Amino acid sequence: MKKKVAVIYGDGIGPEVTKQSMKVLDAIAQRFGHEFEYEFCLMGADAIDKTGSPLPDETLEVVLNSDAILFGAIGHPKYDNDPSAKVRPEQGLLKLRKSLQLFANIRPVTTYQALHHLSPLKPKNLEGVDVVIYRELTGGIYFGKKELSEDGNTAMDDCTYHRHEIERIAKLAFEQSMQRQKRLTLVDKANVLETSRLWRAVVREMAANYPEVAVDYMFVDNAAMQMIVNPKQFDVILTENMFGDIISDEASVITGSLGMLPSASVGTGTAMFEPIHGSYPQAAGKDIANPLGSILSAAMMLDYFNMFEEAKLVRAAVEWTLENGFVTKDIDPVNNYTTTTIGDLVKDFVENKIPSAINKSNLSLSKSTII
Ligand code: IPM
Ligand code: MN
Repeated sequence: MKKKVAVIYGDGIGPEVTKQSMKVLDAIAQRFGHEFEYEFCLMGADAIDKTGSPLPDETLEVVLNSDAILFGAIGHPKYDNDPSAKVRPEQGLLKLRKSLQLFANIRPVTTYQALHHLSPLKPKNLEGVDVVIYRELTGGIYFGKKELSEDGNTAMDDCTYHRHEIERIAKLAFEQSMQRQKRLTLVDKANVLETSRLWRAVVREMAANYPEVAVDYMFVDNAAMQMIVNPKQFDVILTENMFGDIISDEASVITGSLGMLPSASVGTGTAMFEPIHGSYPQAAGKDIANPLGSILSAAMMLDYFNMFEEAKLVRAAVEWTLENGFVTKDIDPVNNYTTTTIGDLVKDFVENKIPSAINKSNLSLSKSTII
């Protein structure tokens, strides 16, 4: 199969982690007879520096003509500390989501035995945690009318949802739960918010079409607590934009490292795949960032291309690195390997080049990955 992939390195550690994914994708292409054609484009602080815009028109043009987008990270401290900045890197991402109608953000939260000790949760609460969050991504308070009064003392962010915006993502979440444990939790604040009551009404109606799926409804404050107390109870979580932003960051710490988590944003057109970690500017260019979140996002992209066996192989490679202690600094502050080395090892595994004995001292010197 031939696929056109728009690559947006973005900011901070974006370029170095995304390069590892491309390396792995190339190994997959080689092994399975595919072809991935990359086209590079700009977004975020990098785009502002180079063009003045966080999402240049050329980027939109390229992504519209691609099969998928592989995206690194967005954000730079110089904008975070300046709330009055007129142009912000995040505007590029929000505009891209809206332009491509990427209405569903999918974030799987998996736990790995090898990382249990890093999780703030007790091991007994971690075993078997497997949650996927479906966050609405193009509506709600993020995209509502925003106003600041002339005297600067009153501000407003409007939160609006239309039935069709709820139906289209709920459909994806119901379908996904049919493939999984057939449990779906709608997270809302229906005791207070009108939009949440609409979400509940729509989801309740739709549940009739999925009689096998056990649906429950949970207020977001309780869900935040349940996520820590007993994450195993969740299978598929469906929620609106803002609640999903918060709950998914909370859920991400369960794994033990934010650097591990992938995501997919899908809609009617080109889909986008990105790790959920930020741009981590302090680590940029140091070759220390964890590339696995990006590599696992590339695996989600392979699934999206219906390359299921290929995606499975990439996930197996990632698990192999973790189980053998080939990890970056975020996972092991003492014995760790570079971003590039981890990328090389995942690639080598995909190429079936991993020998039974690996020379760890060569690896730590960033020499050849294979003896
Ligand atoms: C995310 C991020 C974005 C969001 C920011 C960068 C605008 O936190 O993808 O979750 O809030 O959606
Ligand atoms: Mn977020």
